[in-house]
Amino acid sequence: MSLDEFKAACHSLSTDGPALIAAAADQDAWASVRNMLVGRTSGRLSSIMATLAKLPPDTRREAGQLANTVKVELERLLDEKQIALAAAAPSAVAFDRSMPARATWRGSLHPVTIVIDEIAAIFRELGFTIALGPEAESEWYNFTALNFPADHPAMELHDTLYLEGGGLLRTHTSPVQVRTLQKYAPPVRILAPGNVYRRDFFDATHSPMFAQIEGLAVDEGINFADLKATLTHFAHRFYGATRRTRFRPSFFPFTEPSAEMDVEVDLGDGRGLRWVEIMGCGLVHPAVLTGAGVDSERYTGWAFGMGPARIAQSRYGIPDCRVLFDSDVRFLGQFAV
Ligand code: PHE
Repeated sequence: MSLDEFKAACHSLSTDGPALIAAAADQDAWASVRNMLVGRTSGRLSSIMATLAKLPPDTRREAGQLANTVKVELERLLDEKQIALAAAAPSAVAFDRSMPARATWRGSLHPVTIVIDEIAAIFRELGFTIALGPEAESEWYNFTALNFPADHPAMELHDTLYLEGGGLLRTHTSPVQVRTLQKYAPPVRILAPGNVYRRDFFDATHSPMFAQIEGLAVDEGINFADLKATLTHFAHRFYGATRRTRFRPSFFPFTEPSAEMDVEVDLGDGRGLRWVEIMGCGLVHPAVLTGAGVDSERYTGWAFGMGPARIAQSRYGIPDCRVLFDSDVRFLGQFAV
């Protein structure tokens, strides 16, 4: 082997090498190009170096330096290429098979909805069906038909949310009593859950929007004993048979006599068992029956209106009603079953 032949071999390696390195499309191609060019045992540079010993001794120094220059340049290009390939490759941690699976989300009913469903189930056993009415009501259904005198304070602007162009947001579910009696002849037994609106501040015990459940039973021979027996049965089914209940005299324009029903409950506020009002109730006022087209000489009835949020508070021991409106999944998730 002559020095010229050695130089020619180095030259072809220094022209082929960069093109091959540039063409390597991924890490595997890069590794095989590297092996082919500068691999220790079978690479082209190694084969050239192996011929060094066969050169005339006085040319070996020049030949060795030339081969080394080619080697340094190829290794520089290989390093650069490897860095470029690593930067372009998708990250190795993009999919981590060892990562624990994300827990599936399980939805839950809102505690107020749970309570409404339970109440409805208890009354369904007694022959009550569900009736619904509009949240945007007329003054007639919300007040007049329910025997409110024209100057009743509940009708004041600061209590009721009136709508532009007439009408209002119903302040209670009692208008459904009238709508039902207009549509169906007695015997009537309905439960009417729905949202109601009042100009109230939002605090621990008030909200300008809240749910109510109206109950109405109209038939021949219905009296206050039916009301007491049915509502006590409900409280015992809902809270347990030993739970104490009481009725206190009250007033509503659309019932006569009227009462509030209290149940002894623990609201979870650290004050222990105490009497909590869960509903207003009474015998349907004859003027309401007559106004809705029902013969009040033949038929009598009783009605109640309760607040399921208050009942959810007493059932679950929730001292502040605002958590029922906040939609905070950390709170609501506890009700997932
Ligand atoms: N509508 C009354 C209220 O919102 C509750 C009620 C309903 C009272 C039916 C008696 C009979 O306070």
